[in-house]
Amino acid sequence: MTTSVRYERQGQVGVITVDNPPVNALSQHVRQGLLDCLAQGLADDETRALVMVGAGRTFIAGADIREFGKPLVDPDLNRVIEAYENATKPVVAAIHGTALGGGLEVALGCHYRVAVAAAKVGLPEVKLGILPGAGGTQRLPRVAGVEAAIDMITTGKFVPAGKALKLGIVDAIVDELVPGAVAFAEKLIADNAPLRRVRDMDEKVKAFDPAGFETMRKAVVKAARGQMSPVGCFDAVTASVTLPFEDGLKREREIFTGLMESDQSKALRHIFFAEREALKIPDVPSDTPTLPIRTAAIIGAGTMGGGIAMCFANAGIPVKLLEMTQDALDRGLGIISGNYANTVAKGRLTQDAMDKRMGLIEGVLDYDALSEADIIIEAVFEEMDIKKKVFAALDSVAKAGAILASNTSTLDVDEIAASTSRPEFVIGTHFFSPANVMPLLELVRGAKTSNQVIATAMKLARTIAKVPVLVGNCDGFVGNRMLEPYGQQAELMLLEGAMPAQVDGVMQRWGLAMGPFTMGDMAGLDVGWRIRKRRAATRRNDLFWPTVADQICEMGRFGQKTKAGYYLYEGGSRVPVTDPKIEQLIVEASKAAGIERREVSDEEILKRCLYALINEGAKCLEEGMAIRASDVDVIYCFGYGFPAWRGGPMFQADLIGLDKVLADIKRFHAALDDRWKPARLIETLVAEGRSFADYDRSR
Ligand code: 3HC
Ligand code: NAI
Repeated sequence: MTTSVRYERQGQVGVITVDNPPVNALSQHVRQGLLDCLAQGLADDETRALVMVGAGRTFIAGADIREFGKPLVDPDLNRVIEAYENATKPVVAAIHGTALGGGLEVALGCHYRVAVAAAKVGLPEVKLGILPGAGGTQRLPRVAGVEAAIDMITTGKFVPAGKALKLGIVDAIVDELVPGAVAFAEKLIADNAPLRRVRDMDEKVKAFDPAGFETMRKAVVKAARGQMSPVGCFDAVTASVTLPFEDGLKREREIFTGLMESDQSKALRHIFFAEREALKIPDVPSDTPTLPIRTAAIIGAGTMGGGIAMCFANAGIPVKLLEMTQDALDRGLGIISGNYANTVAKGRLTQDAMDKRMGLIEGVLDYDALSEADIIIEAVFEEMDIKKKVFAALDSVAKAGAILASNTSTLDVDEIAASTSRPEFVIGTHFFSPANVMPLLELVRGAKTSNQVIATAMKLARTIAKVPVLVGNCDGFVGNRMLEPYGQQAELMLLEGAMPAQVDGVMQRWGLAMGPFTMGDMAGLDVGWRIRKRRAATRRNDLFWPTVADQICEMGRFGQKTKAGYYLYEGGSRVPVTDPKIEQLIVEASKAAGIERREVSDEEILKRCLYALINEGAKCLEEGMAIRASDVDVIYCFGYGFPAWRGGPMFQADLIGLDKVLADIKRFHAALDDRWKPARLIETLVAEGRSFADYDRSR
């Protein structure tokens, strides 16, 4: 008998408690414990019904993902669920926290389900590149209906208890978990209620007309953009309609096995753990005391400042927004309220919630108003002199112990910190545009930033629903620094013979949210232009510097915001349209540079873009600017539209084989220029027969 599952009796009801912290994952000992406790409950003559509950903060959060990729040790989950479904006494699942994946599948194997109001249920396996492999694709449509099941299973979204009740996934909402579930079970006993097996409930699947599947599948394939698991999930659910239950289970198993072995699933599992690993900072212990953050302030109500203020208001933290003039403030607040109003119009926020959030944002013009803020984030123009003045002003008004943060995307955090008398309280908080939407938050550690400030910022990031990664202080930090050589390769290939649409097409088909030129147009081409001008004096003279981007900016074309950049965006459209004028400009730029245009293959485009990221990522690692390779992957997947199912650039390097990547980098180095000098770390790892993952594990 394992200790992670226990059985005790309350009157006529046997309570089976899963106790496997932190999230009651279905590890082998839990699966065995569930079988053992069920046998005990069935053998106990005093017991007439059973309740299954999770100890601690949640019901069961699913299979133990750490066991994936290893040989399965009996009993397998399907056998456990089958045993519960076949039980001769009614079993009630009592859900709090989250019932996810295998956790919800176990609950669906029980005869009845109750939940507390705050609970959520879901089958998020699709996000791990697999599908619910313990009957979820066959049982959920039987209780919730086929369309709702397809929606939940192909997207992995969580459903709150109230909605789960309406859908028929749970049978009742209870106020108190165990007493409520026990009372529910007692009523079943009193009513002599039947053993309601989900597998026999086929009304909803029989009523569904499979003629609609073809069109629905096309929509799923389109939305998946190359990811296999949503399509596998869809196909498995269709089997609940087209096949008898047992055959449906077999079909689910076949698709599950194929997905589990795929590189996509490995990549998604890598990102799942990488996101959590990024929270661990080797020299900042997890019990480092943090500072309380009850109020915040933002300087600058522009593109970024407004979005950052929304992040705080969304988390219920009052925030002051400071601008230089009333006009600028009104404009900034107007944009924020317009953004919220759009969300309300789409039905994703209530008017009441919008009013509450707007009520938490207060516009101010005077620095004195910031004296009580626990954190102040500067988001003014990207100019060192202005930032220094702002920080000197903050130093004189901010209370002792306030965190002074900068949203700079490239500037030296130490130089900014030096304009204050308290550099230990200064940190970079690099949000990504649009700040209220993009999950990544690069936290930039200055030379003097204290551990307490780092720990507080990491915790705060989670409070405001961001994915934080701590990086070092260098030009561009990690994400933008890697973007630089990536963008340069893309532009060099234009001069060699490619066109923007070809480069973007290759990267987009490979899975990126958008290619480099579409991304530049969206972010604003003037941003890079300003950075290039700043760096012009210090850049290497022995390299060839392409000028297409500068020429486009000189024409006043800054991308989407000016309706033209690399592409045209007529009538306010966000869809890039090829502009023959730019193609002509590119051909002429090749001629002016004395380059004979050639056909650039799609394979070359992919390799030069991807390997430029990998090589620079490795340099960030060897310099200690990134703590681990998986942090770089988190940065790219959460901040730059890199597909999570590709696992990030460093994961890709391992997957391809670092030796192969190095061979290509060396080939580019010989054929192209010194931009391709291989990172020392890659050479070392290849010489030692190691990968980025080995490197992470050894640290
Ligand atoms: N298996 C193994 N470890 C898990 C886990 C799981 N299913 N879920 C969470 N953990 C671990 C995390 O890695 C983390 O470990 P760490 O502290 O060492 O870094 C710890 O539990 C706490 O997790 P979080 O930091 O994510 O805690 P939160 O409270 O923020 O979130 C959660 C809790 C919502 C349950 C979130 O962890 C989550 O979404 N987990 C994954 C759920 C999931 O995908 N379930 C499906 C699994 S696949 C499956 O069931 C297959 C089946 O169909 C056969
Ligand atoms: P923006 O130009 O949209 O907004 C800047 C705002 O700051 C303006 O509203 C301006 O009036 C205000 N401002 C300037 N000086 C001020 C002062 N002394 N006191 C108070 N307000 C002042 O600029 P954006 O894009 O919001 O950028 C802000 C910062 O965020 C920059 O450091 C930028 O590098 C960084 N950043 C920008 C990203 C982007 O995609 N736009 C992404 C990540 C970081």
